[in-house]
Amino acid sequence: MQTYARNSAGRGDSRTFLMCRPSHYAVEYAINPWMDTSQPVDAALAASQWETLKDAYLAHGHEVVELEPQPGLPDMVFSANGAFSVDGRVYGARFRYPERSDEAASHADWYADRPDDWAFHAPRFVNEGEGDFTYVEGPGLILAGWGFRTDPAAHAEAGEVLRRPVVSLRLVDDRYYHLDTALAVLDDRRICYLPEAFSADSQVMLRNLFPDAVIATEEDGAAFGLNFVSDGENVFINAEAEALGEKLAAEGFTVVPIDLSELKKGGGSVKCCTAELRR
Ligand code: ARG
Repeated sequence: MQTYARNSAGRGDSRTFLMCRPSHYAVEYAINPWMDTSQPVDAALAASQWETLKDAYLAHGHEVVELEPQPGLPDMVFSANGAFSVDGRVYGARFRYPERSDEAASHADWYADRPDDWAFHAPRFVNEGEGDFTYVEGPGLILAGWGFRTDPAAHAEAGEVLRRPVVSLRLVDDRYYHLDTALAVLDDRRICYLPEAFSADSQVMLRNLFPDAVIATEEDGAAFGLNFVSDGENVFINAEAEALGEKLAAEGFTVVPIDLSELKKGGGSVKCCTAELRR
């Protein structure tokens, strides 16, 4: 795969990521179309794939902090869903399905235990953290998904808590049940997204707001390519999404492919396993 570093160090801005080791990861229930309980998960492989992602972040100068995995919460590895933070203010999650609802407390406690760094706000409305919320630093804009998991009322609540305007985007394809399976932020102003995952009206909104966006294809979406993490220079992306990786490399990003095939069985990839802590 072609790569191209925009600065000599090949390093983007240093980020802090909250990750949760897949110690109890399994596909024990099906709450999205990717999950098939009859398909076995290789726990040892999932663990080594997760470790590779963590090591890639560290190798690129990012900080990784770990949340303690809890037995009985097999989806906890998808730490992106636990909260959404901007400028040290934190909007907590409230999960749609009972299978995951106990995850919210672990995240809430983590922030509450660090009151000098974080102001945690418990949510009134159902929302799945960075699964359905993302932040575009340049314009100071929150992008938010609804349609499958997050209650649109949570968008207004998040905007108040985080003191930022929110753009509500409607998801219409259940394979792309979270915003972070269909859209990702590349740097402080550019995004990449799969238009077909959004309603026709939301597509118009995205075109108007982000005329220079990188447009992904159905194939990129199905390879979980949109579920990437970018530090503005390096894009950590599911290895299966080769075509999107090449497209982003041609746009000047350094592509870091990570094989997360076992996590895909749970309906997640790079971004789902990564909560960005924005202090
Ligand atoms: N099995 C999990 C669920 O359906 C996957 C969550 C993926 N996380 C994400 N940020 N998209 O809730």
